[in-house]
Amino acid sequence: MSSSLISLVTGGSSGIGLEIANMFLEENLEVYSISRTKPLNHKIKHIEFDLLNFQQYHPTFQKLKKKLKDLKVLVHSAGKGIFGLHEELNFQKTKEVLDLNLMAPILLTQIFLRNLKQNKGFIVFVSSITATKPSPLASAYAASKAGLSQFAKSLWEETRKAELKIVNLEIDMTQTPFYKDTWFTTDTHPNSYIKPKQIAEILRNIYLQKENLNITNIIIQPQFHRIQKKKGGTNENN
Ligand SMILES: NC(=O)c1ccc[n+]([C@@H]2O[C@H](COP(=O)([O-])OP(=O)(O)OC[C@H]3O[C@@H](n4cnc5c(N)ncnc54)[C@H](OP(=O)(O)O)[C@@H]3O)[C@@H](O)[C@H]2O)c1
Repeated sequence: MSSSLISLVTGGSSGIGLEIANMFLEENLEVYSISRTKPLNHKIKHIEFDLLNFQQYHPTFQKLKKKLKDLKVLVHSAGKGIFGLHEELNFQKTKEVLDLNLMAPILLTQIFLRNLKQNKGFIVFVSSITATKPSPLASAYAASKAGLSQFAKSLWEETRKAELKIVNLEIDMTQTPFYKDTWFTTDTHPNSYIKPKQIAEILRNIYLQKENLNITNIIIQPQFHRIQKKKGGTNENN
């Protein structure tokens, strides 16, 4: 049985995006994920696509745009990090972080914005605490998220009269596979990280707010400020 409202989530195959996708399924939306790997939940419809492949955006998404006329929710969660001394970072990987975290959501939003406005839709940006907090060893990543946050906030001012809702989530250390290739990860103390499901629950609450208001920006942090360095961890994966 297909429901009338549609949600499109980038990065719905893992971590925060996956929990958000599951939450929208519970809210009876039809959920599509754009990612390279297939989400384990078979109820999420997979669009296999590498968001760094900008040349294929128009051929792929213009077709999808016609199919997703009832698009109500667009969630930008796909992203990656690069952490270390800036002069030591790999050039190509640094560019990919900027492209995936900033260019991809801006261009994808542009493609689907008319549909979303027509449907009085909802756009979610998964940004980061680093957007506003100076973050040594994360300068390029922080810049990508600062750009994303500012795009989200500016777009909200531009589109609010169309009754579109936009929320920007500035989140801190969350326990997901995000840190699998870097030299640090979340600390083991349960108060030192956020669970991705908690972010999805907060978002559910925002999504279900009354029509007259929009929660535009929200900062989510764990109680403690701690990370854990991995044994023998270096910057070499950067
Ligand atoms: N975890 C944290 O502590 C934390 C803190 C602040 C902000 N964030 C932000 O939260 C968002 C989600 O991260 P997460 O923690 O959930 O990490 P994650 O579990 O590693 O998820 C990343 C998602 O991005 C997708 N992705 C990566 N490269 C892609 C590409 N080229 N094309 C399409 N999809 C791609 C991955 O899917 P495939 O690999 O299947 O393509 C995956 O679904 C990111 O934007 C991240 O910057 C995370």
